[in-house]
Amino acid sequence: MTQFDPTKPSTTETGAPRESDAHSLSVGADGPLMLHDVALVEKLARFDRERVPERSPHAKGSGAFGEFEVLEDVSKYTKADFLQPGKKTRMLARFSTVAGELGSPDSWRDVRGFALKFYTDEGNFDMVGNNTPIFFVRDPMKFPDFIHSQKRTPDSGLRSANMQWDFWTNSPESAHQVSYLMGDRGLPKTWRHMNGYSSHTYMWINAEGEKFWVQYHFHTEQGEQNMTNDEAAQLAAEDADVHRRDLFDAIERGDHPSWTLSVQIMPYEEAKTYRFNPFDLTKTWSHKDYPLHRVGRFTLNENPVNHFAQIEQAAFSPANTVPGTGVSPDKMLLGRVFSYPDAQRHRIGTNFNQLPVNAPKNPTNSYDKEGAMQYHHSGDAPVYAPNSYGRAYQDTQGQVDNGWESDGSLVRSAYSLHSEDDDFGQAHTLVREVYTDEQRDRLVETVTGSLIPEVQEPVLSNVFQYWKNIDAEVGQRIQDLYFEKTGKAQA
Ligand code: HEM
Repeated sequence: MTQFDPTKPSTTETGAPRESDAHSLSVGADGPLMLHDVALVEKLARFDRERVPERSPHAKGSGAFGEFEVLEDVSKYTKADFLQPGKKTRMLARFSTVAGELGSPDSWRDVRGFALKFYTDEGNFDMVGNNTPIFFVRDPMKFPDFIHSQKRTPDSGLRSANMQWDFWTNSPESAHQVSYLMGDRGLPKTWRHMNGYSSHTYMWINAEGEKFWVQYHFHTEQGEQNMTNDEAAQLAAEDADVHRRDLFDAIERGDHPSWTLSVQIMPYEEAKTYRFNPFDLTKTWSHKDYPLHRVGRFTLNENPVNHFAQIEQAAFSPANTVPGTGVSPDKMLLGRVFSYPDAQRHRIGTNFNQLPVNAPKNPTNSYDKEGAMQYHHSGDAPVYAPNSYGRAYQDTQGQVDNGWESDGSLVRSAYSLHSEDDDFGQAHTLVREVYTDEQRDRLVETVTGSLIPEVQEPVLSNVFQYWKNIDAEVGQRIQDLYFEKTGKAQA
């Protein structure tokens, strides 16, 4: 949405005519510049402040607007208005890589972010997921360490495979996600050709107050496609923005990508006894135990007209839920609910939710006030609740409808184990039972390639053992191939 008439002459930011966009005010043609040249000072000062900090993780990405449409009746599981039969909701999607900075190549091997914002009639609902159904760690205390290990070393400022493998092998719960990342899914051909997942377990609540645990799956209707290591390396050299370009160009030519939303649904009580802890982000739920239910689809059909305003300043957060939806006891998710709006208050500014791309379509009535760049205000209405002057406020007490029971001592510990919980079991199933022989061959090549030349002892031996814990044969093949390729002698 442009807010000016581009055919009219330029003005200062306070609306006065600008004398020139090309020449500074000087004393004579070759003379010194004047401090009171408001047009020049404003232009340079604004330029100095053009960048906002990039996202700490997921800095490089892009996105588009679209529409979500409900195709099946899931009203017996959720009362969420935007999930009722036939409902259509405008939405925004942003796809990203995790570790690279703003200018980094889209085709580097990495997990891809899959962030969605639904502008519902009951407030914004965000689903901030990835293209993999699980994650590297299961406690938010470890997340900053994980990201540090994927970014750059403090001394050289270089990325470091030694550092990445050191973190992963010292965090065995990463095995499942690393098995995905080193597999074909670590290099999606384009954003249009990858799936998205909530990864976490979330809650749905129906009109009767009955609760369900759900995992969201967004399956690409373009078909899943990936790249080889060689293709990705070539693209990284030739076109760092290949995925941003692909999405923009596809929408521009009317080839609108779409994804089917399905959910796995677990009755509330079954979480307590399921063979895997359903709130452990390093685990998936078996599709045999909990099959997919189709819900609807979204289609991206509108490019941003201003990348900075609509994508860079977009603020997605798992904290954004609407009635009929909720979070779960997943510790990572609870950590994220704090972290995103906190990052956005810093990255964009306290009142980031007032920007058009972040603002809900329904009116807000909040007692939050002031802060830098406050745009909305409540006039002379009371700025406190409770009040005697007619400004509405809420005070619903008692059990919340999207909560769960919890008791016990305060502890620092991993989850209590369910019968089949461990770090390597699901990673083994993925590598041995889901991957084909060819996919396993590529996995061995990719892992081995990532170790050469940089990974050193003791990390190297830890990597071999880590993969043997996932799958004895794959681990041995990685070790053998490493020594074959490097010509070093096996101890
Ligand atoms: C971005 C924190 C785990 C997906 C971010 C940002 C922060 C963050 C601070 C930048 C937000 C911004 O500046 O707008 C965390 C923490 C985590 C965590 C503390 C764990 C405790 C995850 C997980 C997923 C995920 C498990 C996926 C399931 C994303 C995505 C973005 C993002 C997709 C980019 C959103 C966008 O496009 O703007 N994360 N994250 N993160 N994170 Fe996480």
